[in-house]
Amino acid sequence: MDKKYIIAFDQGTTSTRAIIFDNNGTICGISQKELTQYYPQSGWVEHDPQEIFKHQKEVFEEVLSTSKISIDQIAGVGITNQRETTVVWDKTTGEPIHNAIVWLDKRTSNICKNLKSIGLEDYVAKNTGLVIDSYFSGTKLKWILDNVEGAREIAQKGDLLFGTIDTWLIWKFTNGSRHVTDHSNASRTMLYNIMRLEWDETMLKALDIPKNMLPEVQHSSSDFGSISYQEKEIPIYGVAGDQQASLFGQGGYKSGIAKNTYGTGCFLLLNTGKKAYHSKNGLLTTLCCSLPDDNIKYALEGSVFVGGASVQWLRDKLKVISKASETEEICISTPASKGLYVVPAFAGLGAPYWDMNAKGAIYGLTLDSGKNEIIKATVDALAYQTRDVLDAMVEDSGKLMRELKVDGGASANNYLMQFQADILNVEVDRPAMLEVTALGAAFLAGIKAGVWTKKDISKIRIVDTKFKPQITEHDRNRKYSGWKDAVERTKSTNA
Ligand code: G3P
Repeated sequence: MDKKYIIAFDQGTTSTRAIIFDNNGTICGISQKELTQYYPQSGWVEHDPQEIFKHQKEVFEEVLSTSKISIDQIAGVGITNQRETTVVWDKTTGEPIHNAIVWLDKRTSNICKNLKSIGLEDYVAKNTGLVIDSYFSGTKLKWILDNVEGAREIAQKGDLLFGTIDTWLIWKFTNGSRHVTDHSNASRTMLYNIMRLEWDETMLKALDIPKNMLPEVQHSSSDFGSISYQEKEIPIYGVAGDQQASLFGQGGYKSGIAKNTYGTGCFLLLNTGKKAYHSKNGLLTTLCCSLPDDNIKYALEGSVFVGGASVQWLRDKLKVISKASETEEICISTPASKGLYVVPAFAGLGAPYWDMNAKGAIYGLTLDSGKNEIIKATVDALAYQTRDVLDAMVEDSGKLMRELKVDGGASANNYLMQFQADILNVEVDRPAMLEVTALGAAFLAGIKAGVWTKKDISKIRIVDTKFKPQITEHDRNRKYSGWKDAVERTKSTNA
């Protein structure tokens, strides 16, 4: 029987999914469960690692049974995951010693301050590609070792293991036989040297982390062990952090390709090829998905903290819409109001401004401004923020961008995609199948399993719409310079 199906596990911040793809990249089944969020204190966010594993196992079994595809036809599993989220567990009991500390969690900002005060900022940027921030796993792991009683002693004995969510899931699914991760996830820990491709001794020392806790790092498309199910073995052949997986799913294994995922935040990645560009504009340098017979490739990454979250704000706080999809019609039918800008700095301003103390603001209100005008200005802000990051990428890399590939929930909004093309003055390319993150993980597994070659990706990715810029240079400049003024006035230094 031909093995022609791949299962992608997509373990995200809010949900856990299993998706079956056939060898044309067509979805043959999806199963999904919501993940419980724990907020023990202001700024803290946790997940239960056992719930994550339980849900992943349940959706895997459910998608197999509902799709009626036989296990013998599954060529492999690809895992993609929320990145940076940190789990520490006891390898003898298999029990986590603390809830997973989620990437959004800010509890380690003092540890970050200390790292900065000992002058590590430059070292971190050059060797891990990151900025010193509680976003990444390193300080979260230190916090667990410092705050769970006896943890450091057990770790010194070699009985504690650290992992991001991919590592935890693989360890559980392989019954503790594999403690591994891939390049893309390792590059988000602040513990991995992305230039030398090894765990970084200086960072381990600075954070007092025993090296024996860390997983082995493999290529994203390689053998990560197998899942025993109904007396059969299903190999895990692909692993990648979700943003790098979606870049791969968009065909972004080639240098020069950029993608933007419009989720709660927006994550923009540009594959810069063999060269690691160190940003002068607050962007991150990170590892792309890696293939054993290919060069290691780097990406520049910029994140917008509040993307789709601002549309949730319209829905849940202002209560001016009842669902996000309503915004498309409202934006199309509402004439552009000159000079009205919503700057959604609800969590400060991210790249390229990095002003943690800025607060959100609305500028340019007149008696004509009603709820629809504010809705439209909020949607427009997603496009303006994307331009801010893309401009920084062009400046850092010296690469001219002709096209931006898009995915994620808000990319379904035709108004937003057209406005995005207009404001960027680049073509915006939306694929027909928007589950690009899961597809990227499936590709990684399918390449190792021999179902696809990497060249097949561009054949499988079908374009839905290419949005071409339609406004004049004069209009684009006028709109964007109004946005820049609004951002300037929002900065905490000008408040
Ligand atoms: O870096 C965080 C990112 O990987 C989270 O992605 O899709 O789970 O919100 P998502």
